[in-house]
Amino acid sequence: MTPVPVAVLVSGGGTNLQALLDALDDSRVARVARVVASGAGVGAFERARRAGVPTVVLTDPEDPAEVVTAAGDARLVVLAGYLKRIPPAAVAQLRWRVINIHPALLPAFGGPGMYGRRVHEAVLASGVALTGATVHYVDEEYDRGPIIAQWPVPVRPDDTSDTLAARVLAVEHRLLPQVVVELARLGVPDKPVRLGASGSAFVVADQPSVRFGDDR
Ligand code: GRF
Repeated sequence: MTPVPVAVLVSGGGTNLQALLDALDDSRVARVARVVASGAGVGAFERARRAGVPTVVLTDPEDPAEVVTAAGDARLVVLAGYLKRIPPAAVAQLRWRVINIHPALLPAFGGPGMYGRRVHEAVLASGVALTGATVHYVDEEYDRGPIIAQWPVPVRPDDTSDTLAARVLAVEHRLLPQVVVELARLGVPDKPVRLGASGSAFVVADQPSVRFGDDR
C-alpha cells in the first residue's frame, strides 16, 4: 500500500501538524507530503523543515487556482490551524478531500471569527458542561461542512480559556491523526464518511479512539 499523500494547511504554530508528523512518521497508510501556509513566517514551517517536508507559502489564499496547485498531488488536504476560508471554486474541485479540525463541538461555537481563545471564552461564557474537538469536511462556509468525528471534553468549574484550550488541544492531537489514518485507510472516499467511537471509550476517558463501523 502506497501511503496516501496529505497536504497540511497552516497559519500558526503547528502543534496539530506536529501531531500528524509524529503519528504518520513510519505509517504505510498516509504521509505528510507538503505543508502550505497562508502567509510567511509561520512557526509551523520549522516543524516541517525538521521533518524534511517541503513547504509552500500562498501569495493569495483567496485564489482558488493557487490553493489547488499548492495542494499538489495530495489526495487529502488537512486544515490544521488554517485561518483562511478555502475559496469555493477550490472546494468544488477538492470536494470530500478537504477536512478541518475545530476546537469545539460544532455546530456550536463555530463560524467566522470563532477561532483560538475566542472559542473557549464563548464556551465558558455559555455555561455548557461539555466542549471538545470536531473534524469536519470543508465546504463553502467556515466550520459548516459535514462532521466526520467529534470527541468530548468536560468543562471544569475552575477552567480558564487557557486551561480549557490546553485540554481540548490535547484531544485534537489524538483525534486528527486518527481521522486522517481512517480516511486514508478507506482510500479517501469521494463521499462523506462519518466515524464513530469504538467500544466504550467515549464513556470512560477523554482519550479519543475512532473507527469506521466494524473492522474491514
Ligand atoms: C487549534 O486549536 C485548532 O483547532 C484551531 O487552531 C488551533 C491551532 O493550533 N483551528 P496549531 O497551530 O495546530 O497549534
